[in-house]
Amino acid sequence: METNPEPAPAQADPKARWEGRYQTGDTPWDTGRPSAELAAVLDSGVIQPCRALELGCGAGTNAVYLAQRGFSVTAVDLSAAAIARAQGLARDERVVADFLVDDVCNLHAALQDFDFVFDRGCYHCARRDNLPGFLATLERATKPGAKYLLLAGNANEQTEAPGPPRVHERQIRDELGALFSVDWIRPFRFEDPGGVEGPLGWSCLLTRRG
Ligand SMILES: C[S@@+](CC[C@H](N)C(=O)[O-])C[C@H]1O[C@@H](n2cnc3c(N)ncnc32)[C@H](O)[C@@H]1O
Repeated sequence: METNPEPAPAQADPKARWEGRYQTGDTPWDTGRPSAELAAVLDSGVIQPCRALELGCGAGTNAVYLAQRGFSVTAVDLSAAAIARAQGLARDERVVADFLVDDVCNLHAALQDFDFVFDRGCYHCARRDNLPGFLATLERATKPGAKYLLLAGNANEQTEAPGPPRVHERQIRDELGALFSVDWIRPFRFEDPGGVEGPLGWSCLLTRRG
């Protein structure tokens, strides 16, 4: 997924830090192709087209893919540069999706009643900046029974290679377990932009508790 480390949590102002990465093109997570794990989960039929929210959508590849697969998509990112790219991609692909510049840890938009949340690489960053704010957004945005497909860095990765922030399965269960029951938490591999096997991740399918 990435060849450069994501910004350290100690750095000030997450918005400036992410904006800087998109403005300088330092976005190694951005493969330009839909997530293979997302595609496999959709192909399995466990999630049907519905109202979907993508958290930390970046340049919009997966949001556009979801729209192409029949979902009604709203996608949020902190970076205005990322959202501008996502809007351009949607125009090029002739799909309709709502793209918003907003902070998923302190959401200004009134987003609620989503049936499906997709997150490739947002939780594992946002949890270090403001976990309570991130959880408040998840609680407000989803309705009971909603599915949350979370792709996050995996602390069982053995290499020292730079990559996404790594999370332990126990941390996912502890942090998200009050709001969501666990359908699965299983290892998978992120893609790299070159198409080779990327860093170890967690694929988590969660269901919003009633
Ligand atoms: C590792 S990148 C992944 C981007 C995209 N999901 C993808 O797979 O290409 C993490 C994304 O989360 C966004 N992000 C991080 N913290 C955020 C926050 N508090 N609110 C909204 N977006 C955030 C970043 O701007 C960045 O686009």
